[in-house]
Amino acid sequence: MAITNGDELVEGEYYAEHGPPHDIWTRLRHESPVHRCEPTRFEPFWAITKHADIIEISTQPELFRSEPGIVLLDNIQEAAIETSALSMMRVIIMIDPPEHCEVRKVSSQVFTPKAVRALDDVIERSAREVVDQLASEGGEGECDFATDVAVAHPLRILSTMLGIPREQEPDILRLTNQVFASEDPELQREGEDRIRAMLELGQELYQLFDGIIQDRRANPTGDLASVLANGLVGGSPLGPMETIGYFLITFTAGHDTTKNALVGGMRAFLDNPDELAKVRAHPERVEKAVEEIVRWTSPVNYMKRTAAADAVIGGKQIAEGDSLVMFYASANRDEAVFDDPFDFRVDRDPNRHLGFGIGEHFCLGANLARRSQRALLLELARRLEWAELAGEPEQIQSSFVVGLKHLPIRYRVLSVSASVGAG
Ligand code: HEM
Repeated sequence: MAITNGDELVEGEYYAEHGPPHDIWTRLRHESPVHRCEPTRFEPFWAITKHADIIEISTQPELFRSEPGIVLLDNIQEAAIETSALSMMRVIIMIDPPEHCEVRKVSSQVFTPKAVRALDDVIERSAREVVDQLASEGGEGECDFATDVAVAHPLRILSTMLGIPREQEPDILRLTNQVFASEDPELQREGEDRIRAMLELGQELYQLFDGIIQDRRANPTGDLASVLANGLVGGSPLGPMETIGYFLITFTAGHDTTKNALVGGMRAFLDNPDELAKVRAHPERVEKAVEEIVRWTSPVNYMKRTAAADAVIGGKQIAEGDSLVMFYASANRDEAVFDDPFDFRVDRDPNRHLGFGIGEHFCLGANLARRSQRALLLELARRLEWAELAGEPEQIQSSFVVGLKHLPIRYRVLSVSASVGAG
């Protein structure tokens, strides 16, 4: 009997109920690393589960293309996306070479390590503020770490960079949740008619960003919003939908991913308290801990590619037009690359995880994601005295950007003055 027809790998409901299908990926890596899937509700695809095969595919962007789509769509989403304003936004992550390089250059200067370090004030203040909020009720309490803590940190950082006023932060959060978690009934846009709901969503996003774009064209400040609003490709300004698309992709690509890494990281620390103690004892090694959190949580579960010609991957004959789905979460547990891949170790070294992808489309925001996680992790390592689970964690109903939507914890944190006193 076949190991899987792919349903468990791509159905959001499966993830919501069981979490990511690590047991199936482990079998696939051993028995069928390039595995033909014909799922019930999605297009057929090849499941790519080995680290080496994902590198081979990602580093040949002319042969394995992103333009036809990076996400497997089910029937309803496909119809909705085709008709919505979202489909008109050509976004960097779905543009192939040679144009891709030009589009990436528009904003790459904002994401270099040096440029991101210049944001440390914003990033560290945000981390302090969210932990202060935990400390506000005498330092002890219960919260949902996902919705009360982790969500606020990348939201504040990205909103600041994109010029979204504080009072509009809840709007952008709601809208982007609706774009990415459109499968999850708790997060998706309300409305019986899913296609109409997606159309309205496109319009609302347009309205939100258009005001900021017009303002930064008139008064550029050098922030990310100004860079995007005034971006040139091949000497010509980006079109209106391309500009909006750029705002949207940086926000959506950056927000849920970072949030899910933070929540999954906290879950891993609850299960492995000694690992948080290691960070506390050696804060100078925090960067390694962040890499392990990204490997462990793999918030971007997969990316899709489409073969532009016949090819062979892992000994399997791939036909022109076939879809290949690269499961980063599987590659990040590949026994051929990682010692004890199912152990969470903050000092793992080397750690050649593929959580940020690899090759042409390597995560543009990786430095920002690392710096944001670093700041919150250091703040927690300094001030979180203890924490434990206070209820059942709940997984988002999605197989694309994956993670926990609820993580109830009970905790005790040091107040600001106490932590300063503690050095
Ligand atoms: C832990 C957090 C994050 C993870 C796990 C993550 C993961 C990824 C992955 C796997 C890709 C590769 C896509 C591909 O090969 O097709 C990617 C691309 C991208 N990411 Fe991230 N990301 C994170 C945070 C961010 C942040 C904070 C930003 C920006 C603010 C961002 C912006 C982007 C963009 C724009 C791309 C497309 C790059 C291109 O097409 O050249 N990401 N990300």
